[in-house]
Amino acid sequence: MRISVIGCGYLGAVHAASMAKLGHDVVGIDVDPKKIDDLSVGHAPFFEPGLPGLLQASLDSGRLKFSTSMADAAGAEVHFICVGTPQRKGEYAADLRYVDAAFAGVAPYLNSGDMVIGKSTVPVGTASRLADEYMESAPEAILAWNPEFLREGHAVKDTLHPDRFVYGVPDGAAGERATAALDEVYAVSLSEGTPRLVMDYATAELVKTAANSFLATKISFINAMAELCEAAGADVTLLADAIGLDDRIGRKFLNAGIGFGGGCLPKDIRAFMARAGELGADQALTFLREVDAINMRRRSRTVELTRQLCGGFLIGKRITVLGAAFKPNSDDVRDSPALSIAAQLQLQGAEVTVTDPEAIENARRRFPDLHFEHNTEAALAGAHVVLLLTEWKEYRDMDPASIASLVDDRRILDGRNALSAQRWKAEGWQYKGVGRP
Ligand code: UDX
Repeated sequence: MRISVIGCGYLGAVHAASMAKLGHDVVGIDVDPKKIDDLSVGHAPFFEPGLPGLLQASLDSGRLKFSTSMADAAGAEVHFICVGTPQRKGEYAADLRYVDAAFAGVAPYLNSGDMVIGKSTVPVGTASRLADEYMESAPEAILAWNPEFLREGHAVKDTLHPDRFVYGVPDGAAGERATAALDEVYAVSLSEGTPRLVMDYATAELVKTAANSFLATKISFINAMAELCEAAGADVTLLADAIGLDDRIGRKFLNAGIGFGGGCLPKDIRAFMARAGELGADQALTFLREVDAINMRRRSRTVELTRQLCGGFLIGKRITVLGAAFKPNSDDVRDSPALSIAAQLQLQGAEVTVTDPEAIENARRRFPDLHFEHNTEAALAGAHVVLLLTEWKEYRDMDPASIASLVDDRRILDGRNALSAQRWKAEGWQYKGVGRP
């Protein structure tokens, strides 16, 4: 099929390259010329395992190109809308200006029978509003909503082999045509037996926000248990293992630590609360306020634990922060709890050095006053306290014996419960985890 992908960020760039891999002819469109220049020569503008190879293979096949001109979307039968929906400044609600701009931009190029497929995470009700506002100029074109569930760091696999497809389609014959078109787009993945659920627009939009809210709730639940474990002298990792073995609960997303961040969970739960308020159903989601509060409390709690490890005073203490990205295998620092903690420690008088395998340049742009160091050994040199805040494999595998000679004091705060307390203690380290005695 001939496909356009509008918006080439974390979602769109991977989607465009993946659709070409599935055999379609794809043009990726973005307003940022630098991003388009990079993508056109096979250079991924962000760190995502597997993307450079996929991009290059798709470009080499001749089935993928990129452009800054919306006119290049003309002629595609399917247009995917993959632009961002960030949090509005000073509000909880989502900022839909990029979604509206994408629809306004593509509308003049729609032909009879074209499909416009929204993938961006939007407040419930958006698809039907967009259908009313932008699809009238092409009455035979059809809008569907097909939310994306990809995780950064696993984006290629999640796009090519997702857990499920969700199609939000209009009633009647238009819905049947949209379903058939999406089935054709995803034919290869569907042939692997991937479940697909067809529903109305509103339910499809809600599936995405409900899924992210559930994940955020799971993380905040275990972080609340970590607070209790700390008060009671219990161990939250054993508690998570034990409750996780109940297959109604499951062990995934029960890792206590410094909490969730990134470009999705924090802003999605807030946008969900804002939308519920507009619909007069705010009571249904007041628990998400608590989910958010528990999550943000992890950051201040980590600063306090670090102060305790420093003997009560942060001023003048050399602190090494391992990890700046909001999670491993990503260079994304949007709402990164690690960076937020590093910045708070510095504001309170500590001398903070931050290192990360991939995210330093992005982190520096956000927090230019923090000190960054690419080399892990140099970052550890002379530390009074080490904080493991993003559990990259190289940090999980770190040898407590060999780095002991680099630091001034053997003290480590494991903000992700990713290390073996026993092993570190055996090498003479004062070890502190989250919610562990
Ligand atoms: C999330 C959803 O998982 C994905 O389905 C959706 O499409 C986009 O939002 P992502 O933001 O890439 O994906 O990250 P995710 O893997 O969900 O992790 C989010 C945050 O939760 C990270 O900061 C991570 O460190 C944290 N986390 C995750 C925990 O603190 N504990 C856990 O047990 C799991």
